[in-house]
Amino acid sequence: NASNHVRIVEVGPRDGLQNEKALLPAAVKIELIDRLSATGLATIEATSFVSPKWVPQLADAAEVFRGIRKAPGVVYPVLVPNLQGYERAREAGAGEVAVFTAASEAFNRANINASIDESIDRFMPVLERARADGVAVRGYVSTVLGCPYQGEVPVADVVRVARRLHDLGCHEISLGDTIGVGTPVKARDMLRAVASEVPMSALAVHFHDTYGQALANILTCLDEGVRVVDSAVSGTGGCPYAKGATGNVASEDVVYMLHGMGMTTGIDLDKLIETGAWLAGRLGKETASRVTRARTA
Ligand code: HMG
Ligand code: MG
Repeated sequence: NASNHVRIVEVGPRDGLQNEKALLPAAVKIELIDRLSATGLATIEATSFVSPKWVPQLADAAEVFRGIRKAPGVVYPVLVPNLQGYERAREAGAGEVAVFTAASEAFNRANINASIDESIDRFMPVLERARADGVAVRGYVSTVLGCPYQGEVPVADVVRVARRLHDLGCHEISLGDTIGVGTPVKARDMLRAVASEVPMSALAVHFHDTYGQALANILTCLDEGVRVVDSAVSGTGGCPYAKGATGNVASEDVVYMLHGMGMTTGIDLDKLIETGAWLAGRLGKETASRVTRARTA
């Protein structure tokens, strides 16, 4: 891939906040998204319309989605696990959604109480309705480089699930290293295998940084031609149903690396750093972004 441009999918308001124990007021979530909208990001995953019993932090999804200022040129996808979630999302005004499953059966059971096949059965009506409504659907595959319950995940399972989601009409497939255990050669081999069945232009990478490998993995995947990268401002994130998983790679650190390599993102790094530092303050935590630490020390 000769293109120098990388699209960052900012998942902080969703992945970042879903793992926060203390409930954050909707107004703070709205301010976070509005601040992110002013940084030049083109895609901000705003929230998820999952069961509030499973993820209490995002029970206010409709209020948050309605409250954000939709900036021109920015898309605000939301997670939906089933038709009920899709309907709630549409009612709140969502124009793009994401469905999610995993390459490992054990993780899927813990996360969405379904087998891989059952979860895909639940997506069918979502995809049908989305097609009729002109709503783009992203598909996530979790545990692509390891599972907290099953351990190793065969690459063939990742390829099969990614291909299935793409065949069913997901315009983009995000490959998630949910627990951040992957290393560069494994990440490269996994991506190559998936790209042999799904076009690289339809693939995104989603690395959690639990073991500090995320930037190295991203670099390897860029070399392979991927041009869509998921990350979370201030390095927040984690899945409540993936034991030991910590934050996503910090958006500030990814953007710093990309700009340093002469690649473009359309993002104002200073504004992103400001937003990350602000969020860390609101969460009462030190930021996980090395760049923000370096710049705000
Ligand atoms: P279940 O309990 O098997 O569902 O949960 P159910 O269909 O039996 O419904 C149970 C109750 O939930 C019912 O209410 C439903 O109405 C309600 P009750 O009758 O008991 O009062 N319900 C809903 N309410 C609101 N919105 C909905 C909805 N659906 C059902 N959409 C379910 C199954 C999928 C709902 C549940 O397991 C769930 O919501 N799981 C979400 C878990 C989650 O959000 N995990 C984090 C996101 S994934 C992730 O982080 C990974 C990713 O970042 C990539 C990576 O890093 O790898 C994407
Ligand atoms: Mg994630």
